Amino acid sequence: MLIDGKNYQSIWIDENKRDVVKVIDQQKLPFFFEIKELSSVEDVYNAIKDMTVRGAPLIGAAGAFGMYLATLEITAHTNIQSHLRNAAGYLISCRPTAVNLSWAVNRVMERLSSFSGRESLSETALSCALEICDLEKENCRKVGENGLRLISEISKKKDGLPVNILTHCNAGWLACIDFGTATAPVYLAREKGIPVHVWVDETRPLNQGSRLTAWELGKAGVPYTIITDNAGGHLMQKGMVDIVFAGCDRATRKGDVANKIGTYLKALAAFDNNIPFYALLPSSSIDFSIIDGKIEIAIEERDPEEVRSVTGYSDGSVRKVRICPDDAAAGNWGFDITPARLITGLITEKGICKAEEQSIKELFSEKME
Ligand code: MRU
Repeated sequence: MLIDGKNYQSIWIDENKRDVVKVIDQQKLPFFFEIKELSSVEDVYNAIKDMTVRGAPLIGAAGAFGMYLATLEITAHTNIQSHLRNAAGYLISCRPTAVNLSWAVNRVMERLSSFSGRESLSETALSCALEICDLEKENCRKVGENGLRLISEISKKKDGLPVNILTHCNAGWLACIDFGTATAPVYLAREKGIPVHVWVDETRPLNQGSRLTAWELGKAGVPYTIITDNAGGHLMQKGMVDIVFAGCDRATRKGDVANKIGTYLKALAAFDNNIPFYALLPSSSIDFSIIDGKIEIAIEERDPEEVRSVTGYSDGSVRKVRICPDDAAAGNWGFDITPARLITGLITEKGICKAEEQSIKELFSEKME
């Protein structure tokens, strides 16, 4: 996407320095736009863990590049397959909820599984990581096209008044290498001159909405309003939301969706107010091996310190301030499960389907027996 006239992805390889992976540092946005260099498996692990890079498709791509960096650590004395297995396990252990991470790391592993020598190992790993990036970008673009149809239909009914879309967290291009999922149809609508306006949930505790989605939309010239995480239900009751677009970290074959904590409450409010609620995702976010999200999806629990504090910008620097008693108990679940029955549909690269097994199978028969 364009930032101040220059095209960026949220992860890439510098053609002149191919042993380094470059990422936009999402911890620093929107206060500072900084590029960070990752040059080891450990760098990639730490970047995913501390959320320098975040968002399901992006952590998948980062994991794939991590496997490429793992191949650069191999010497003449290394047991190649055991080294790669260790690196893969280490990277996958970083964050448990988004399936994209294991999907991408395992894809590179499979490609490398027959290698016993170093020749062309790194080139193969790198080309696999780059293929994954291209695939995710292309799939997000198609998710955008499929979602655009819904925005166009609402726009026609509203006779040119802006279509109000509510989104949670950041399922934008920062989270997805390029285009985004929940934001992809919004950018296309903007390009086509369809008036849109986005309600951006701030998304405590790390504020991916107010920091990242707001920044992205602003750079793209999309009108938006940041709201507190608790405001969505009220806006829905007042007829101020036409559609909800959420991202997805892991969907089950029956259509349950894990996404950033708070998504479930938005889906409940949308259901109660008869407002369409869609999850937008590339198929790398579908875990075809599981059925029941509440039972089978591991929900990441993060440092309670993230809840006890808030990070913001003041007097030229980024500061973290305590917002509760020093010794307050706090819980920090990163994701929740929205059950399929609350979801109007899944918007994927292959089209829109209902959040139910048969409908998902119609799009992805090759992955579901
Ligand atoms: O904890 P995060 O910031 O990685 O959580 C991200 C989300 O919940 C996104 O909505 C999801 O990864 C989809 S990104 C297209």
